[in-house]
Amino acid sequence: MDSNNTSGQRDKVVLAYSGGLDTSVAIHWLQDKYNVDVIAIAINVGQPPSKDDIVARALRNGAIKSDFIDVTDEFVSDYIWPSLKANALYQDIYPLSTAIARPLIAKKLVEVANAEGAKYIAHGCTAKGNDQVRFDVGIVSQNPDLSIIAPMREWVTSREEEIEYARKHGIEIIVKKESPYSRDENLWGASCECGILEDPWAEPPADVWEHTVDPAAAPDTPTYIEIDFEQGVPVALDGKRMDGVALIRALDKLAGENGIGRIDHVEDRLVGIKSRETYECPAAVTLITAHRALEAMTLTRDTIEFKRGIEQKYCQLVYDGLWFGGLREPIQAFIDETQKFVTGTIRMKLYKGSATVVGRKSPCSLYDSGLSTYTDDDSFNHESAVGFIYVWGLPGRTSAKARAEKK
Ligand code: ARG
Repeated sequence: MDSNNTSGQRDKVVLAYSGGLDTSVAIHWLQDKYNVDVIAIAINVGQPPSKDDIVARALRNGAIKSDFIDVTDEFVSDYIWPSLKANALYQDIYPLSTAIARPLIAKKLVEVANAEGAKYIAHGCTAKGNDQVRFDVGIVSQNPDLSIIAPMREWVTSREEEIEYARKHGIEIIVKKESPYSRDENLWGASCECGILEDPWAEPPADVWEHTVDPAAAPDTPTYIEIDFEQGVPVALDGKRMDGVALIRALDKLAGENGIGRIDHVEDRLVGIKSRETYECPAAVTLITAHRALEAMTLTRDTIEFKRGIEQKYCQLVYDGLWFGGLREPIQAFIDETQKFVTGTIRMKLYKGSATVVGRKSPCSLYDSGLSTYTDDDSFNHESAVGFIYVWGLPGRTSAKARAEKK
């Protein structure tokens, strides 16, 4: 396909580039197949930085421009904290770590495409996953004039063929030791699938876990921590105020050392496939547990129950790639509004794979010990119970009577 524009220049494609085999080979493939200039953009959402200079390598491999953009701070403030406020766990178990990074990456790619006047955005997703949907939908929801190219969806190829393609075209690649797993990683968690994990009966082998200690090998004495929240957002760990990135990293370490955050799940992909995946999300699991406990103390029962329903819908929208331009934002506005009083401190015990809430306090607490106590300090008006129950039971009493007469 030829892609010259009216001014005779080649059209541009912004490639979501990781430096790995697929996207390195894609730089050449895109030029070859679409006759376009490639701008290779590496976006960091908190994954460990790679040691080799992938930007320089992209340029050597034919990209006309390449850049590394670190968006970890924005990932925390605009994606992780909003989803924490929603206690976001897809299918009650997966903290959506991969899913929430995709709309941000899409946003950055669109920004670069707009600034560069590019016609295309390319990404390395295959045809079977959720991420292709999140990228494609995220991109067109922000700029409907952009077209998407997904080389790995069009060019179904094996790793061996890709290595051969690289050799033939002089593409510089770093061939790592072949791993049976497919991994994705960012600040909120790590995902792992393929290999033996495709057998849902097989216990995940030890080499699946890279960020957590086996709970059986975790310390024999518990670690106690305190997390301070302000309006639903964690602001301090053990009394030390820190920014979001530092707090998540510190908590990931503490919780990971205690074997917390391992998840093994058969999940429903949007594309209709059930897949088995493991996740490691020590900080996410700990923070969601803590956040829920603080909500239990500071929100009314009605709000908690209504919010639970909304949270499920929220997770589904995020998982399904509908972060931008639809129902997610108004739901987010509701969730944010509920967080006004979610301020306080949660005390947790981290011990051999579990993060248990053992204490809570809040200046906005709705817990009234005068009302709940069974001691002499009781302030509850006991007589009021009788009248309350009379009214509460009135519909039941009325219908029992009316129906008894009809029998
Ligand atoms: N199943 C998860 C999701 O759709 C993670 C996908 C990426 N996983 C991977 N191992 N490459 O959000």
